[in-house]
Amino acid sequence: MSSSDMKIVTVIGSGLIGRSWSMVFISGGYSVKIYDNQPGQAANAIKEIRKQLEELEEAHMLKGELSATQQHALLSCYDDLAPALEGAFFVQECVFEKLEVKQGVFQDIEPLVGKDVILSSSTTALVPSRVFSKVQNRSRCLVSHPVNPPYHVKLVELVPHPETAAAVMDTTHALMTKVGQVPVRLKKEIDGFALNRVQAAVIAESWRLVQDDIISVKDIDLVMSEGLGMRYAFIGPMETMHLNAPEGLEDYMKRYGEGIKRILTSFGPVPDFCGEGSKSIVNEMCELIPSDRQHLTARIERRDQLLMSLAKLKKDN
Ligand SMILES: NC(=O)c1ccc[n+]([C@@H]2O[C@H](COP(=O)([O-])OP(=O)(O)OC[C@H]3O[C@@H](n4cnc5c(N)ncnc54)[C@H](O)[C@@H]3O)[C@@H](O)[C@H]2O)c1
Ligand SMILES: *[C@@H]1O[C@H](CO)[C@@H](O)[C@H](O)[C@H]1NC(C)=O
Repeated sequence: MSSSDMKIVTVIGSGLIGRSWSMVFISGGYSVKIYDNQPGQAANAIKEIRKQLEELEEAHMLKGELSATQQHALLSCYDDLAPALEGAFFVQECVFEKLEVKQGVFQDIEPLVGKDVILSSSTTALVPSRVFSKVQNRSRCLVSHPVNPPYHVKLVELVPHPETAAAVMDTTHALMTKVGQVPVRLKKEIDGFALNRVQAAVIAESWRLVQDDIISVKDIDLVMSEGLGMRYAFIGPMETMHLNAPEGLEDYMKRYGEGIKRILTSFGPVPDFCGEGSKSIVNEMCELIPSDRQHLTARIERRDQLLMSLAKLKKDN
């Protein structure tokens, strides 16, 4: 495929993630065709995106080189699948996180697209070998797992099906880079991919420390936000170790490896997140931030504002 054929992306499903992906792709100058099987839903998404683009432009946070009006003009909406796929070189699926729904969507898409079109899923928790089990040519399939909200958090995990062609991974990597995301490659599929596996480890130990009455909910969150998180926005755990001993990583492990192993062997079992024991933890959290819509929305807005400022800081460094 020549690059002149690589101008149109189709986004399937126009919920939270579909809208955010669309904004990412138009910021890079791609035309985006949005399809949703709920009539009128894709048109609503375009209206909603227009509002967001204008707000971002106002706040000088609009991505890419085009104005909000120019970016908006790259969008079109469809209630029918076939015209939505016409001309696209890349399809990003963002429908409900249900295996049968995703399998059905890809089964419907495959006969409607050319043989070089890349089929990509946004799934969080389903491995590619399951999502694409009903596709004939699986060498063109992969998962491109975004982090919510992808417009402000750039990481995308690229996860291959066992049959995915190397060129498909490369083209997707290049596309993601071009639209300003930061893609990482998994070499093979695994439950939870990389991000959610690391996150699960953090969640489990945080939960156990609160459950075992070692620390409060408020303070374990501060351990992350004021401690570990300060560096993790810029350097990962590997570089952190490399920098924290005079002669780098090997030296670090000579000094601290035994201690880390001792701590790791003292970890408790997988917590029961929903049982009786979880009630007091949930209550403690809800005393800090009540779980009604109003309080949660206010905190979500604060989070997104802060993420935008952090994104700005990262761009300048
Ligand atoms: N929300 C997150 O934090 C997050 C983060 C990363 C990945 N994801 C993944 O992204 C995907 C979408 O999540 P979301 O939060 O946007 O969901 P959502 O419920 O907001 O949106 C789903 C959209 O898909 C549409 N849809 C459902 N079935 C369809 C079909 N057969 N054909 C076309 N459209 C269909 C729905 O009408 C809806 O508009 C999921 O796989 C999810 O796991 C979500
Ligand atoms: C399968 O997909 C790959 C990758 O897009 C493509 O190069 C190949 O031609 C396809 N094979 C068939 C039989 O369609």
